Amino acid sequence: MITKDKVLLSLRGVREPKFQKDFTQMNLVDVKVNENKVSLKIYLREDVFDQKDEIEKKVRNKINLAFGDQVADLQVEFIKVPDYSDVRKRIKLEVLDESKAKLGRVIAITSGKGGVGKSTVSINLAVALRDLGYRIGLLDADIYGPSIPTAFGLEGHILEIKDEKIQPIEKMGLKMVSIGFMIPEVDTPLIWRGPMLHKAINEMVNEVEWGDLDYLVVDLPPGTGDAILSLNNSVKIDGAIVVSTAQKVAAADVMKNINMLRTLSIPIIGIIQNMSYVECPCGERIYLWGKDGVIQLANKYEIEFLGEIPFIPSVVESMETGNFITLSEQAKIVFREISEKIINRLDVIAGLKRGG
Ligand SMILES: Nc1ncnc2c1ncn2[C@@H]1O[C@H](COP(=O)(O)OP(=O)(O)OP(=O)(O)O)[C@@H](O)[C@H]1O
Ligand SMILES: [Mg+2]
Repeated sequence: MITKDKVLLSLRGVREPKFQKDFTQMNLVDVKVNENKVSLKIYLREDVFDQKDEIEKKVRNKINLAFGDQVADLQVEFIKVPDYSDVRKRIKLEVLDESKAKLGRVIAITSGKGGVGKSTVSINLAVALRDLGYRIGLLDADIYGPSIPTAFGLEGHILEIKDEKIQPIEKMGLKMVSIGFMIPEVDTPLIWRGPMLHKAINEMVNEVEWGDLDYLVVDLPPGTGDAILSLNNSVKIDGAIVVSTAQKVAAADVMKNINMLRTLSIPIIGIIQNMSYVECPCGERIYLWGKDGVIQLANKYEIEFLGEIPFIPSVVESMETGNFITLSEQAKIVFREISEKIINRLDVIAGLKRGG
């Protein structure tokens, strides 16, 4: 069924040319839905009004992507205004609640086992999504071993507070917050860290000045722990990604992880097989732990297989030096392809797109 909310959500990414913010987030779109007919009124300032045809093309494209031939008739009308102040007050955006709408889609990166590459996937996914033009936040919730401070050369950094809001760190076009910046001493014993976890995660989501994001990527600690529970209590998680390697021994942990996500009713975007193979200079792929372990798990638990990531030396280097310019072309392609699949799956989960 086509609803006003779904139409508004589908228009994410269509930006007002002057302010470079989504029309929907600026409350500049009026939507009317009548069964399979949709009509949109878009308010546009007179100094950028000449760009209306280009915007209309983008809008039609988005609606078509989201609804296909479900929408039988789409009317798009542009209204010229001298400025936006009155319009924004008049149109009430009925999409989610405002703070959540600002965070964009929240993606949790999970695994049953430690050391399978959650942090690597989180960081490289954030970089790949940024390269696709999205505004990205990266939240490192790994209480046992935060990765962002090391990966971005930010050890010892202390977060600033301005107007009672925590300011994220901005580096390489990403906004980031790490639990490593929230819990003061690196050597604070784990037994004291536990009780701080929930408060820290809630603060990192709700008391950080994230600005307007398209996606918030959350790197979680391994296991069926408290962190995802805290995150789930702090914000609506739009989807979780399960990261695994292909060994047989990983299967039981993956199962526990999937069961936990299902128990919490967190939608599963899909599963990634990391450190799948090493490519020998002769071009041959050497599968370290068998080829199909994760695909078989995906089939068994009926979740989407998002792809495999080979063992790529430049990935290790970039993680240790925080220098993502060193990332090889192969790595960029792999992460871009996975990012596109994730965006697509999130649209399907949100009911914006049909598909498996
Ligand atoms: N595709 C890859 N190619 C090369 N190295 C990788 C790849 N994925 C992960 N690694 C390396 O494997 C190690 C573990 O990865 P990472 O820290 O991302 O795992 P994790 O699941 O976050 O671990 P933890 O459970 O401790 O948080 C790191 O040294 C990382 O650089
Ligand atoms: Mg990690």
